[in-house]
Amino acid sequence: MADHDRLSPFATNENSFDRVAFLQTVASLSIYKQEALRQFERNLPNGAMILDAGIGTGIDLPALERMVGSRGRVIGVDTNQELLDVAQQLCLQENLTRVSLYDADIHDLPFPDDTFGGVRIDRALQHIVDPQRAIEESYRVLKREGTIEICDPDWELLSISHPDSQLTARIIEYKREQNIQNGHIARATPTLLQAGFNEISTIVIEDTFTSPEQVKAFLYLDKLLDDMVRMDVLTQKEADEWLKQFDQQNVGNNVLCSFTTAITVGKKQ
Ligand SMILES: C[S@@+](CC[C@H](N)C(=O)[O-])C[C@H]1O[C@@H](n2cnc3c(N)ncnc32)[C@H](O)[C@@H]1O
Repeated sequence: MADHDRLSPFATNENSFDRVAFLQTVASLSIYKQEALRQFERNLPNGAMILDAGIGTGIDLPALERMVGSRGRVIGVDTNQELLDVAQQLCLQENLTRVSLYDADIHDLPFPDDTFGGVRIDRALQHIVDPQRAIEESYRVLKREGTIEICDPDWELLSISHPDSQLTARIIEYKREQNIQNGHIARATPTLLQAGFNEISTIVIEDTFTSPEQVKAFLYLDKLLDDMVRMDVLTQKEADEWLKQFDQQNVGNNVLCSFTTAITVGKKQ
C-alpha cells in the first residue's frame, strides 16, 4: 500500500479520525446535498427500490425513504462498521422501516443484476480503489433505465484565501494528490458513465465559507497539516506559521474558501 493510501481517512479504518463528527460537520455546512437529493428524486419512479452506496452516518436515508414512498425500499451499504452502527441507530430513531443496511463493498455488491431503480454514490468514489469497477457494479445492479447519481468534490476547484499563496497552493495540491485517493474523479465521472449510460448530465454546486473555523472543520485542516509534517513535505514551523496567518484573517470572517461539488446523473441504457 502506498503511503498516501494510509492518509486517505475514508479509504482505511484508521482510528485517529473522527469520521462521525466530520461527516456531521460536512452535512451541516454544505449545500450541494439538497440539490443532489432533488436531482435524484426527479429521476426516480415512485415505489422504486434504491441503493445508497457508501452511506456514512446515513444522513441521506430519511430523505431517500420519503422519496421512494410507501411501496419503495432503500438499501444502504458501507464498509465501515462504526458508521454502519451510527446509521442503524438513526434508522431506529427515525423509524425508517423501509431501509435495510448491509456491510458491503461498492466494488462487489451482493445484489443480483437488474435489482434497483436508482443507485447513488455520494462522495465515496473519491475514496475507493477502483471507481470504474464501482460504476460497472452500479450498472449491473441497476434495472434498464434506472438512474445513477454520483457526487464528488472537484478538488481542482478548491480555493482558500491566505497571504502565503504559494504554501497554500502546496497544501491544496497535497490534499488533492495525496490525501484523496481519486482527487480528479469529479471530472472523470461523466466519461466513465459513457460506457452503458445515457442522458448524462453534470451540475456543479459551490459552497463558500468565510470563517476560518468552518474551513478548518470542513477540510479537516489540522489533520491535513499534521499528515504533511509527518510525511516530511512540510516543516512544523511552516505548518504553525500558515495556521497562525490563516487565523489572523479572522477579522469579521473575511476568509474566502470555495469548494465545488459535481453532481452527475445518468440512465442505464
Ligand atoms: C465521505 S463519506 C460519505 C458518506 C455519505 N455518502 C455522505 O454523503 O455523508 C464516504 C463513505 O464511503 C464509505 N466507503 C469507502 N470505501 C467504500 C467501499 N469500498 N464500499 C462501500 N463504502 C465505502 C466510507 O466508509 C464512508 O462512509
